Amino acid sequence: MKVLVSDPLSDVGIEIFRNTPGFEVDVKTDLSQDELGQIINNYDGLSIRSKTQVDQKLLAKATNLKVVGRAGIGLDNVDIPAATAARVAVMNTPFGNTITTAEHTIAMLMALSRNIPKATATLKDGKWEKKHLRGREIYNKTLGLVGIGNIGTLVADRAMGLKMKVIGYDPYQAVEAIEDIGVKPATFDQVLTQSDYISIHTPKTKETTNLFNKETLYRMKQGAMLINCARGGIVNEDDLYYALNNGHLGGAALDVFATEPPGKISLMDLDNFICSSHLGASTHEAQDNVARDVANQIVDYLTTGQANNIVNPKK
Ligand code: MLT
Repeated sequence: MKVLVSDPLSDVGIEIFRNTPGFEVDVKTDLSQDELGQIINNYDGLSIRSKTQVDQKLLAKATNLKVVGRAGIGLDNVDIPAATAARVAVMNTPFGNTITTAEHTIAMLMALSRNIPKATATLKDGKWEKKHLRGREIYNKTLGLVGIGNIGTLVADRAMGLKMKVIGYDPYQAVEAIEDIGVKPATFDQVLTQSDYISIHTPKTKETTNLFNKETLYRMKQGAMLINCARGGIVNEDDLYYALNNGHLGGAALDVFATEPPGKISLMDLDNFICSSHLGASTHEAQDNVARDVANQIVDYLTTGQANNIVNPKK
């Protein structure tokens, strides 16, 4: 069986392919889409992250391909219906980076509340700012979660450890399941109007694209803060700029953007806006976990047909 690794993957994953009898692995992470199209028919399996575009054009050339494995969660770069039509299984690794992403969310919440990025920047600039950088406690504040899946659940657990009150909205989870993890179930509007902080943990879908827009941002409490470590485009960046710039919102932290990298968008001019470069899943631990998971899953699928974390129906 031949596997191509077309986006960077931790060595632990590559070693699994190398050490499996009957498997050959090629690591080619600098190919253009055209170059990839010229060789893809040589492979039974493809391991990707977020750069490689698995679209109809590529799938049409991938005559031997049986499985695409994403080391990570998001599958925005894979045309799943086209893969299903081409009888190519698509799998992700939904657990390996959840702790890391939850921790990044809490880091953003803390950094925002205590002005850490601005304090670092001003001090490095030789200024000893105190008055302008007075922060706020998160103790006893209400965190509203939009999406309470694997990552949202971990964020809730950590926030409760920090003595926050946690409410949450997730139309795909039973009310009892939300209550079982100690979160108070809420409607989307209740999350908007009752939370001091809102954190987003949903995939980007038709329903969630621009979910945070002029109208919903203005339903949020005056001075509330918004955190998005999920997917770019769920928050409308222009509308967020206006809500922050005119002081309706107290602050916002984005790890993800509608276009990545985002370039010099207007949000970058605001002191109450902080950001990171899609680092939510970027720890050594998480990258080893997802590499191990994706390699094992691809090997299992190609050797025994075992279908772990497959997201498309079999045709
Ligand atoms: C994911 O979908 O797993 C994360 O956003 C991280 C990534 O894109 O690598």
